[in-house]
Amino acid sequence: MQGPELPPWWARTTVYQIYPRSFFDTNGDGIGDLPGIVRKLDWLRDLGVETLWICPFYGSPQQDLGYDVSDYDAVAPEYGTRDDVRRLLDEAHARGMRVLADMVLNHTSIEHPWFRASRSSRTNPKRNWYIWRPGKKPGGKAPPNNWRSLVGPRGWHWDERTQEWYWASFLPFQPDLDYRNPEVQEAMLGVVRRWLAFGFDGLRLDIFHAIFKDERFEDNPFSTRLLPSEDDPDGFLQSYRRTLHHPETIAFARTLRRVANEFHDSPRFLVGEVFGQPSVLRRYCGGGAPLAGADPPNVDSDDGLHSVFLFKAMRAPFTAAGFRELVLEFEREMPAPLVPTWVFGNHDRSRRGERLGYHPEREKLSAAVQLTARGIPFVYYGEEIGMRDLALPLATAKDPLARMYRFLPDVVARKLHAAGVLLNRDACRTPMQWSAAPNAGFSDPGAAPWLPVHPAAETINVEAEERDPASILHCYRRLLQLRKDRPALQAGALTLYPEHALPPEVLAYRRSFGDDVVDVLLHFDDATRRVRLPGDCRLALVSTYPTPLPIREGEAVLRPYEALVIGR
Ligand code: GLC
Repeated sequence: MQGPELPPWWARTTVYQIYPRSFFDTNGDGIGDLPGIVRKLDWLRDLGVETLWICPFYGSPQQDLGYDVSDYDAVAPEYGTRDDVRRLLDEAHARGMRVLADMVLNHTSIEHPWFRASRSSRTNPKRNWYIWRPGKKPGGKAPPNNWRSLVGPRGWHWDERTQEWYWASFLPFQPDLDYRNPEVQEAMLGVVRRWLAFGFDGLRLDIFHAIFKDERFEDNPFSTRLLPSEDDPDGFLQSYRRTLHHPETIAFARTLRRVANEFHDSPRFLVGEVFGQPSVLRRYCGGGAPLAGADPPNVDSDDGLHSVFLFKAMRAPFTAAGFRELVLEFEREMPAPLVPTWVFGNHDRSRRGERLGYHPEREKLSAAVQLTARGIPFVYYGEEIGMRDLALPLATAKDPLARMYRFLPDVVARKLHAAGVLLNRDACRTPMQWSAAPNAGFSDPGAAPWLPVHPAAETINVEAEERDPASILHCYRRLLQLRKDRPALQAGALTLYPEHALPPEVLAYRRSFGDDVVDVLLHFDDATRRVRLPGDCRLALVSTYPTPLPIREGEAVLRPYEALVIGR
């Protein structure tokens, strides 16, 4: 019998994020490198992840560890060469894996030759490649308007030589390009085309929601919000209405999609880093305003970005009700053919375990949501072994964000960290823990890793977890393998079972694609509980525990924080 057609690869894939500096160091300089990723490809394939996202490896003064690009076509020498990128792509492709590059379109490094030229004089041909404005007050010494950067202080920076202000959405050494200048668009689309043509299967787009700003430079309105969050970028007493989510940014997402569609050999994938409510973010993916009850949904899935990060899962209360609400929201705001994403950590946020009390069973349950709910899972390196945040002092941080806030006492930083605000992102960027060897096997025993290795590496490491069938690592492997085997998990529709069919501690949904059907039970509690199965699936396939308990007479026994996937 002919089943329905599977959607394109990107809609079914699983993504593993690699911070190259911290993954594996092959030359003993204490910095992870591209050959290090190549060295670990077999391990990644055997883990079961299908797509790798590599954080920026381009030429850069590394003030923001690569998110400040000074040469988009070069490779930073500490990471390797263009030949190493070639080898990484070829070797990954040979193993049936895909690779995404990280594209920083919004800004360059202050050391990029374009910016050097731009700031050299008001008449330089590159002047209007960036956003320059005269100031207010006599002598122009007050910034052009009240706009704040995404990280707190104002985003305008005074240039003494040319007596004007330039705009930077993030840190002062990351000046924003002016996308209203057609030359800029052409240059940056050229960069995109060159890396896609080089063989990358897609791009992760850095702070994409900031690309266009209000062309009249009107003030941002006042807001009572103090700190921004993943789903609401307003903060620092300002609504970012004039600086984020501009309609032209959404139009630019369409332009990028057309560029991605130029590659006919295999579809290229674009995923945007954008902060906001799912109802706003869907607009980046060809989704119009949600229309109540619209069927088919008000969506052109062939337009705009393929998907965006939905960071809300990081904040959802870790309860059945919390995740029920989240799944409902993702289904409502990102209905098929849109594809949500499941993100529990990245190089900017606390590691998942930090929020779950470093409780392996809870971490495995969270992994089960990530890998069985409808959407693209993004696994941050180390999440699969339960790596932990390492609290390090602000003053000596490598992270420029932490250095900017170094005037704060560390006790304040620790309090904010506990509340989920990570000022020193070094905490979640420590070297991958491969073994209990010196330097956790990340680098030569005698080398000095660029960030300290977490002391927990003695027990939390790949080698130890490989030996333990009850480890988080084995749980990931089982779930990833099952997902590969079951179209229902890769691409199936999701239907929640009604609350009244289940105890309040249990969330359950069905995934179905054609004839392929699985039910997923998620138990958000530390008791052991007998549960009447809500559907007709009776065959226990995979548990977050090493082996599922048998199902008897339509009832499953769920252990503390167990997730159980069952088939027919
Ligand atoms: C994004 C990146 C972050 C970087 C910033 C500026 O949020 O994830 O690491 O510092 O953009 O490029």
